[in-house]
Amino acid sequence: MSAIAQLNDVAVKSMLTKTHKLLINNQWVESASGETFEVYDPSTGTVMANAAAGNEQDVNKAVKAARKAFESGHWSEMTPSDRGKILWKLADLLEENLEEFATLESLDNGKPLTIARAADVPLAVDLFRYMAGWATKIEGKTIPISVPYTPGAKYLAYTVREPVGVVAQIIPWNFPLLMAAWKLGPALAAGNTVILKPAEQTPMSALRLGDLVLEAGFPEGVVNIITGFGEDTGAPLAAHPDVDKVAFTGSTEVGKMIVKAAAGNLKKVTLELGGKSPNVVFKDADLETAIPNAASAIFFNHGQCCCAGSRLYVEQEIFDKVVAGVAEHAGNIKLGCGLDPDTDMGPLVSEEQFSRVTGFIDSGQTEGAKVATGGKRHGGEGYFVEPTVLVDTNPNMKVVREEIFGPVVTAMPFKDPEEIIPIANNTNYGLAAGVWTQDIGKAHRLASHIKAGTVWINCYNIFDAALPFGGYKESGWGREMGGDILEAYTQVKSVCVQV
Ligand code: NAI
Ligand code: MG
Repeated sequence: MSAIAQLNDVAVKSMLTKTHKLLINNQWVESASGETFEVYDPSTGTVMANAAAGNEQDVNKAVKAARKAFESGHWSEMTPSDRGKILWKLADLLEENLEEFATLESLDNGKPLTIARAADVPLAVDLFRYMAGWATKIEGKTIPISVPYTPGAKYLAYTVREPVGVVAQIIPWNFPLLMAAWKLGPALAAGNTVILKPAEQTPMSALRLGDLVLEAGFPEGVVNIITGFGEDTGAPLAAHPDVDKVAFTGSTEVGKMIVKAAAGNLKKVTLELGGKSPNVVFKDADLETAIPNAASAIFFNHGQCCCAGSRLYVEQEIFDKVVAGVAEHAGNIKLGCGLDPDTDMGPLVSEEQFSRVTGFIDSGQTEGAKVATGGKRHGGEGYFVEPTVLVDTNPNMKVVREEIFGPVVTAMPFKDPEEIIPIANNTNYGLAAGVWTQDIGKAHRLASHIKAGTVWINCYNIFDAALPFGGYKESGWGREMGGDILEAYTQVKSVCVQV
């Protein structure tokens, strides 16, 4: 019997049996075309739910609602304290329904329920609370000015930070709820109105979040949620002349398309794109922690992390030991359905990702890489791929240059601690990096020279709502989280008064 058939959570079951609608202007409505699309259980490849397939007409309707809500001032001119309270309420409601959200997330994405319960949902709750606190702290400055061409005149000059306006947010499927929170939290704290477009692979948690948006008391049109395919809903949002800003997380390829689409009305753009992050282990590292963490740096979330430590560089003398240790960890990872409490790693999210990742493993071998462990499909159904370690690679191979977005790491030795900086930076990406050493000077030297938005020293995959995250180079524009994200959702107005 499939895991879904055994489910006894009534709330989750009801999410699976209904055909989902779009949230526009605080109403659940059918798509303009009346069309729907199928949502798959990646552990079996079978259909588990249906959602409304939005198109340009739905986008226009949602943008109109968001524009009306923004111009009405019901949200942007609400007191910051009241705005914060509604965001906090959303966090409380999410927390109250933690188990339901964790189960939905596990079913939809394939990730272990234990992970969704411990990480995805609590991090989303925390993000909303953190951003609720910011609502009352978005401040301008008073600026002493001199104005040489008006001698003797006196001025009071100050800046205010105002919301950007109507914001489109297009998110991926690897952390569906958390990506929704990363996007919605700061945009709403700053007083913007939003159209959120979840990934077509994983719409469930965003749809359920829509119910909580209504319950939390957001005014009409402040949060709109449009499900559908990228070309039908994402593309018209990115191009829409009445959208003031687009925030995107996903592939670098689509990120570049968003930039072009946004040029029509020069809307503001922030992008959180792919990565090919180096994880560097020196021979003076504490290998007891470095080895299991090097494994989880790549295998966490099945490697479907933009910051996955996918290029593992190990100092020559300890290379064999570290590779053997990471391979052993990989071999011990139990693959299975996300809902099974014994599962360490679930399936990849979709057939498309399954083909992409297994295609990369094949291409690595064709180009001469060797499989130290893994390398194959797991089981006969669903999109499971074995945790895989590739060795004997060279810097020109596709598996070393391109983002795989699956449980596949390339392990490479290096000789000289000085040579590792250019090697680590030999990529178009710059999202994250890991450094493992007990030499504090060396650790900070690397942190300063690696071109990446986040450097983890003697740890990996550490996230917090207060800590900015984002990319150098082709990994993106702007930051998520922390106080820095608010710059992306506000604009500065200078006011100058002659006194
Ligand atoms: P994608 O970039 O196509 O999808 C991400 C989001 O963009 C989805 O909501 C999708 O519907 C939307 N989208 C697709 N085409 C669009 C368009 N023309 N205009 C506007 N929105 C559009 O990513 P996909 O195809 O799911 O995955 C492909 C690769 O992208 C992965 O193998 C991985 O390398 C990378 N990726 C990176 C992520 C990250 O966290 N940075 C997340 C997901 C994927
Ligand atoms: Mg795509």
